[in-house]
Amino acid sequence: MPTQSAAQAKTTATLDCDGKSIALPVVKGTESEVAVDIEKLRAQTGMIKLDPGYGNTGSCKSAITFIDGEKGVLRYRGYPIEELAQGSTFLEVAWLLINGELPTRAELAGFINEVTHHTMLHENFNRFFEALPKDAHPMPVCAAAVGALTTFYQQPETEQSTHETWVRLIAKMPTIAASSYKHSIGQPSIYPDNRLEYTSNFMRMMFATPCEEYDVDPVLARAVDLLFILHADHEQNCSTSTVRMVGSSRANLFASISAGISALWGPLHGGANQEVIEMLERIATEEGSADRFVAKAKDKNDTTRLMGFGHRVYKSYDPRAAILKKACNDVLKRVGGSSRLLDIAMRLEELALKDDYFVSRKLYPNVDFYSGIIYKALGIPINMFTVMFVIGRLPGWVAHWLEMRRDPDFRIARPRQVYVGPTMRAYQPIEMRGGRV
Ligand code: ACO
Repeated sequence: MPTQSAAQAKTTATLDCDGKSIALPVVKGTESEVAVDIEKLRAQTGMIKLDPGYGNTGSCKSAITFIDGEKGVLRYRGYPIEELAQGSTFLEVAWLLINGELPTRAELAGFINEVTHHTMLHENFNRFFEALPKDAHPMPVCAAAVGALTTFYQQPETEQSTHETWVRLIAKMPTIAASSYKHSIGQPSIYPDNRLEYTSNFMRMMFATPCEEYDVDPVLARAVDLLFILHADHEQNCSTSTVRMVGSSRANLFASISAGISALWGPLHGGANQEVIEMLERIATEEGSADRFVAKAKDKNDTTRLMGFGHRVYKSYDPRAAILKKACNDVLKRVGGSSRLLDIAMRLEELALKDDYFVSRKLYPNVDFYSGIIYKALGIPINMFTVMFVIGRLPGWVAHWLEMRRDPDFRIARPRQVYVGPTMRAYQPIEMRGGRV
């Protein structure tokens, strides 16, 4: 398998500035992606590179996930997302992302066994959840709970303790997620049932009560597992970059993942799936027509966006959205629910894909456009959508954190800036600044 070591300086790029010519190394990745290495730019010229939003900045070399946004390609460790979605399970994918290779049968069995036996939370967590307001959104509750895990496992960082930490995170995340939901609806948390596999265990913790068991439908559990697989990694997105950024200060894995959860919460990132359903429901009840909504999304004087559309990297159809569009139909058939929201989503997609505004900007459905419809059909409440994303994205975050910490060139992340504030001026004491008291 070609690895990161295959990415080498092949040639140079020349930068001409103030009559000086500087040769900068060009780095080529295993999929022929090319980057100009500007690490020495400031030392050689006194200049830095300005790239707000990092849209054109490679922050690291990584061997985990490859995306070709122009062609709609997504691969984990070289394996196409379509094949993993078809043939693997979420825990298998988690192992692949974190360890670099698909597990053997024995490795997978060992991993499942380890995860299964770390699903419980310390009893003190009950008081932790009780201390928070009843209407607390589950995302900050999850971020706080993951941060709080550090206080229960304070051993020094070694290879062994790091392994235990990421196993604990993957094992306990569904328990934390389900508890955060149960807390928000005033029900007691349900303990994990370790006879169930990972996703079924999570669904039971969400929907069983102390008075009523919940029998997990394997078809629906598989749909959730598929969603987790599709969300498992997406290279240097906002939350993953946050995990790397926080971890680069040598903050521990729990603290770094907690920061990643907070980054994922925003409506332009993981929060978009919640916004998609709210948008579809608004269209169904208020706006009346998908056509009118698309017109609003195009209007420069209106801040409305077509949520679930557009992506910083994909400039063609997000391959995850294509897989989920099909899964939507399967799930809706199984639960026998209304397809009203799916119909509206498909109408929006149809309108946008033939509208010059969206076509010229290369705006296509992203993973969040269809995921919310599946979650809703499964009975997952809207404020839990982004939490589902957290469970899925966790192995990716772990894989990136480990890759960064094992990188011999690893340095604390510390971007620079172009200062545009006032130049030096003298301090004025308060009595000289005027204004009434
Ligand atoms: N609806 C309408 N117009 C849009 C949309 C949209 N969903 N997305 C982008 N545009 C327009 C912008 O107004 C802009 O137009 P302009 O060139 O006339 O000014 C142009 O397309 C480029 O948009 P940017 O915001 O500059 O693109 P960027 O790469 O920074 O943003 C983003 C990508 C944040 C995903 C954006 O497309 C968006 O807000 N989409 C909706 C939110 C969403 O679905 N987020 C989930 C992303 S996937 C994920 O995080 C898992």
